[in-house]
Amino acid sequence: MQIITLGDEVLRKKAQKIDKIDDDVKATAIKMLEILKRDKGVGVAGPQIGFMKRIFVVSIEGDSERVFINPSILETSMETVKYEEGCLSIPGIYANVIRAQAIKIQAWNEKGRPFTLQADGLLARVILHEYDHLEGVLFLDHVPEKKRDKLIEKYEKTHKAAV
Ligand code: NI
Repeated sequence: MQIITLGDEVLRKKAQKIDKIDDDVKATAIKMLEILKRDKGVGVAGPQIGFMKRIFVVSIEGDSERVFINPSILETSMETVKYEEGCLSIPGIYANVIRAQAIKIQAWNEKGRPFTLQADGLLARVILHEYDHLEGVLFLDHVPEKKRDKLIEKYEKTHKAAV
């Protein structure tokens, strides 16, 4: 399964609520976790594989694999952190993004069980990044315009060179 990359309009669409957490959804979650392992990513969201539903998975070192279905961000800390981010959909491009240091999120797991999670640091960052994907937002949207234009130009150059 290929990851959809920058330029595809799918990445700009809003993902839809999952009505029922059935075997298909569970299988998709497992597939997404496999993609993370294969591509050495820390998170991937439905739209990135063309599955326009509100689901993302996160796997960071030292933490268990996590599946978030129909997530709601309940709280974000006033305190923010600037840290370098990348995205499987924008390979080779990295930039600093300012995000909340800590969050509280509510979601359902792949077993259909609801949970609430307090997260901070890298986990909070990855969750916010993946949540953005469900809204059609990419990390580059958080980068100042001038810098963003340069990065997109760089991406397009390397992307075209590779084709
Ligand atoms: Ni991403």
